[in-house]
Amino acid sequence: MQITAAAGPITNIAADTYVLPLAQGIRTLTGDLAAVDALMGGTITSMLNDGLIKGIGGEITVLPPGRRLKAKRVVIAGVGERPKMTLDGIRDRAANLARRLRDIDAGTVAASVQEQSGRLDATDVGRVIAEGFILGLYRFDRHHTKAADRPANTVGDVTIVESTRKARQSAAGVAEGVILGEATNLARDLGNEPSNLMTPTIVASRAQQMANELGIECRIIERAEAERLKMGSYLSVANGSVQPPKFIVLTYTGLRRRGGYIGLVGKGITFDTGGISIKPAEGMEAMKGDMTGAASVIAAISAIARLKLPVNVMAVAPCTENMPSGSATKPGDVVYAMDGQSIEVLNTDAEGRLVLADAIVWARQNGCTTVVDVATLTGAMSVALGNVRTGVFCNNDRLYAELEKASAISGEKIWRFPLDPEYFESIKSDVADIKNTGGRLAGSITAAKFIECFAGDTPWAHMDIAGVMAATTDRGWKVKGNNGTPVRTLVQFVKGRARA
Ligand code: BES
Ligand code: MN
Ligand code: ZN
Repeated sequence: MQITAAAGPITNIAADTYVLPLAQGIRTLTGDLAAVDALMGGTITSMLNDGLIKGIGGEITVLPPGRRLKAKRVVIAGVGERPKMTLDGIRDRAANLARRLRDIDAGTVAASVQEQSGRLDATDVGRVIAEGFILGLYRFDRHHTKAADRPANTVGDVTIVESTRKARQSAAGVAEGVILGEATNLARDLGNEPSNLMTPTIVASRAQQMANELGIECRIIERAEAERLKMGSYLSVANGSVQPPKFIVLTYTGLRRRGGYIGLVGKGITFDTGGISIKPAEGMEAMKGDMTGAASVIAAISAIARLKLPVNVMAVAPCTENMPSGSATKPGDVVYAMDGQSIEVLNTDAEGRLVLADAIVWARQNGCTTVVDVATLTGAMSVALGNVRTGVFCNNDRLYAELEKASAISGEKIWRFPLDPEYFESIKSDVADIKNTGGRLAGSITAAKFIECFAGDTPWAHMDIAGVMAATTDRGWKVKGNNGTPVRTLVQFVKGRARA
C-alpha cells in the first residue's frame, strides 16, 4: 500500500473506492461531497434528507456509484460534529475506517479529507490520516502458514484528496505521516517477533541493515569490548544467556559537525525470564516484548534519518536476554557499572535498570548532551496508569515541556511522575552504593531514581512504557500486539529540536 496526496476534486481521480467524510448536522453538501452527489443524481442528499445517513462518528455507508463516476463504490464515512473533531480523533477514525475498507476489500482508495480540515491545519490532518491508515492496517501475521489465517483482503494504494488551496500542505503532512507510521510499524515488527527469532544478534543485524539502507552509522559493541569498557552492570544481565549480548549504537549526524547528540536509549531485553528471580509461567510470553524500548529508538532514528532532520541523534540499544542458568547473576551479587558505581543485585528480575545504567553512562561519555531513555521497566507502571499513558520521569523541566509538546502531536499520552530525593532512601544498599530494587512502594519511581544515578547532570528523561507496550484488541491506531510506542513521540521531540 502506497499513500500519496493529491488535489481535488476527487471526481478527477481514478480509484476503486471513493471515501467521503460526512460531518453530523450538515444540511447542504459542499466540495467533493457535492461533486460526487451531483454525479450520483443526488442520492447522498436524498439519503441525508430521509435520515438514512446522519454523519455520526463511525457510521459507514457503502453506495453504488452509478454510471458517471470513476469509482466502483462510494463510502460515506460519518465523522461526527465538526467542532468536536480533534487530530487524535481523526487518526483513530482513519484507522478504524481503514480496517473497514480492508474488510470490504476496497482496492485502491481516494479519500477526501476536506470535511475535516475546516479549522484544523491541513498538514496536521494529512499527517494523522496517513498515520491512521498505516497504523490501523498493521497486522503481525508472518508466522501464519495457512491462507485462511492470513486474510486476502487488502487496501490498495490510497490517495488523500485535499482542496487545491490546501493540497501542498496536505501532501507535506501525508509524506511525514507515512514515515512516522512505517517507523512505528518497524518497532511493532521487532517487538512482536518471538524471542527465538529476535535474539540480540538478530536485533543487531536488523539495525545494521536499516543503517545501511539509510546511510547512517551502526556500531555493535560485542561482549569482549563491553568487558574492556567495564560495563559490568549491563553484562551481569547477560551472564545467564547463551545468546551473545549486543550493545547497538546508531548515529545520525544531521548537522554539519558532530557533537551535541540527543541520545535515545532503549532497553533491549529480547526475553525477560526474570533470571534466577524467575517470573511465574503465566503470561511470561509477553516478555518477548521487553526489547520494545530498543525497537522504539531504532525505529525512531530511522524516521529521523528519512526526514533528514537537521539535528544530531544517537540511538543506543543495550540488548541481551535475561536467563537463569549456572552462570547467571544471583541475588545479592554486587556488580560495577561503567562509571564505577557499585550495585547490589537484589532481584535479577529488575534487570532493565541494570542495562540502562551502562547505556546512559556510555551515551554521556560519547557525545550525548541530552538523554531520553525508553523502557518496559516496571509492572507497577500499569498499576499506576494502565495501558493509556506512559509514565515520564525527568530531571529537567524544559526537557519535560518539549516531551509534552511532542506527545500532544503524536497522540501518545504521557504523564509526569516525581523524583523527590526521599525516594532515593529505598535504593540505598548496605553493601554497595545502590541496590536494584526499592521494595513494594512506588516501584516505578524507585526504578527511575536508580536510573537517575547514572544521568548525572545531563538533562535526562525516562519513559516507562511497560503499561502501554501492547494492545489486546484493535482500537483506533492501536492494533492487537505491540504498539510501537513511543516512536512518534521521540521523532516529534527531535523534530522540535531541529526547528529550535
Ligand atoms: N520487564 C519487566 C517489567 C514489565 C512487566 C514490562 C510487565 C512489561 C509488562 C521488568 O524487567 C521487571 O521484571 N520488573 C519488575 C521489577 C521488580 C523485580 C522490582 C517488576 O515490575 O515486577
Ligand atoms: Mn525483569
Ligand atoms: Zn524486563
